[in-house]
Amino acid sequence: MSEQAPKGFFARFKELPVDSTPKTIFVAVTLCLFCSMIVSVAAVSLRPVQEANKVRDKQVNILQVAGLYEDGVDVAEAFAAFEPRVLELASGDFSADFDATTFDDRAAADDPELSRELVEDPASIGRQANFVTVYLLNDDAGNLDKVILPLHGYGLWSTLYGFIAVEENGNDIYGLQFYSHAETPGLGAEVDNPRWKSLWNGKRLHDDTGTLAITVDKTAPAAGADFHIDALAGATLTSRGVDNLVKFWMGEEGYATFLAKLKEGAV
Ligand SMILES: Cc1cc2nc3c(=O)[nH]c(=O)nc-3n(C[C@H](O)[C@H](O)[C@H](O)COP(=O)(O)O)c2cc1C
Repeated sequence: MSEQAPKGFFARFKELPVDSTPKTIFVAVTLCLFCSMIVSVAAVSLRPVQEANKVRDKQVNILQVAGLYEDGVDVAEAFAAFEPRVLELASGDFSADFDATTFDDRAAADDPELSRELVEDPASIGRQANFVTVYLLNDDAGNLDKVILPLHGYGLWSTLYGFIAVEENGNDIYGLQFYSHAETPGLGAEVDNPRWKSLWNGKRLHDDTGTLAITVDKTAPAAGADFHIDALAGATLTSRGVDNLVKFWMGEEGYATFLAKLKEGAV
């Protein structure tokens, strides 16, 4: 009787029952690898689409805060009305050192060369970039009509990122809106409620003495209703965050120098 040659690893594996432990582990591992490959390929191939959507979303928000967004509008075409410029906060001057179409404000805030750690930090942002991208909008006659300024700060649960639209006089607010936050729907997330957003339209930043007077609170400040945005009901903490961040960005550490130049007509 001839002796049978010893079977190889794969032959022995093949002969195992389907519900054996090695085969169960093999199927589980193969399935995991296959699924993770699909997820990785999807993530990599969809990245350009995600980036394009992010850019479009930002453009939509800028159009909205400036009152230029309508359903069905060609976003890229409408956005061409804006001139992006990189602004140096300390001097209030535009910088020619960066390309405004590609400058990344958030990356700049993390870059020690382009940002500074805040000692007083009412907006709870930790670091502030020395440069930010602002958007200029001209009227039909080619004169400056509005500036759209980015701002951000902490609410109750999250950092709110948004834009404020200020008229060419550097004092009248056209609108404010946030495009990213994680406040609670129905409470802090009511910052997105069109009714609340509309409260910002026509409010003023500085009173007649030049003092920053804009306030988000349950009661109006001494300066009066022109400077008052009603705090959100049931969301005092988010409202306080918005009050802090607006005051911070409109103040000396933020756009004060630039706003003063706007008032002088020097932009
Ligand atoms: C689950 C949960 C989520 C909340 N989310 C928010 C929020 O996003 N923003 C906020 O200001 N308050 C939020 N609050 C309420 C605050 O804890 C606090 O009660 C409120 O800000 C007080 O506002 P009021 O003085 O207008 O009532 C939340 C409360 C709970 C229980």
